[in-house]
Amino acid sequence: MGCCQVKNDANDTMDKSSIKPDPIPFAIMRNGHEVIRGLMIELDEAAQANNETKFAELWKVFIIWMNHHAAMEDGKGRVKGFFAVLNENFNNIAVSEGLEAHHSQLNNATRIMEGYFYEKDYRSLISNWSNYRKLNEKHLIAEEEIMMPKVQEMHKLGFPIKKNLAEDIVSAAWDEVNFGSEFVQVACWVLEKHHGGMPRARVFIHALKSITDEQRWAKWLPYVKAGLSPEQYFLIDSQIELSSAGN
Ligand SMILES: [Fe+2]
Ligand SMILES: [Fe+2]
Repeated sequence: MGCCQVKNDANDTMDKSSIKPDPIPFAIMRNGHEVIRGLMIELDEAAQANNETKFAELWKVFIIWMNHHAAMEDGKGRVKGFFAVLNENFNNIAVSEGLEAHHSQLNNATRIMEGYFYEKDYRSLISNWSNYRKLNEKHLIAEEEIMMPKVQEMHKLGFPIKKNLAEDIVSAAWDEVNFGSEFVQVACWVLEKHHGGMPRARVFIHALKSITDEQRWAKWLPYVKAGLSPEQYFLIDSQIELSSAGN
């Protein structure tokens, strides 16, 4: 699969090949949705088991990860975010197709859940979980239905996707103090565990490494290592050379 194609689930099938795969930079966002889904599976298990302590621990990890991902979409500070990139280039599509509305709806629901969390009312957090999960899943699907075709179009139109991701999207969060542990490491363990029969972790890590410089990559690499099992780290290293940034 070439660098200019993005499948709906951004994963190629080249992991058994000796040919080094091309990075799919947009997988930071697309496989990011699989991180959110994987964490929702974990949360669901804790809710089913009525394990309040486990649920609260996971909730904290989940919300922080979601916030980093949402900053990449909504923008933060001087970084405009993915929705603004879509709006500027595709006739205000993030507004007209309701992506921004999904975010405000989800933010309202999150605020209520966060209230339970801070009050340590884990019983209410768990009893409202299933509705919250449905709302979140609806938001992910709505985004994928718009984003995936538009990203393909951006590729065809010759957009500098890596530059867009680095300057306008991922940089909304990547200099946050705990980005390595809160975002990189969490994505690695979740995607390794919830791989869906695809090399999700490798594709996500490759995407991250393809859009950054050596200095930032050197900061993130220990978190890649901490997030993956030693076997998975060794395998991914043999496929995409984790020691340096770039392709
Ligand atoms: Fe979103
Ligand atoms: Fe998203």
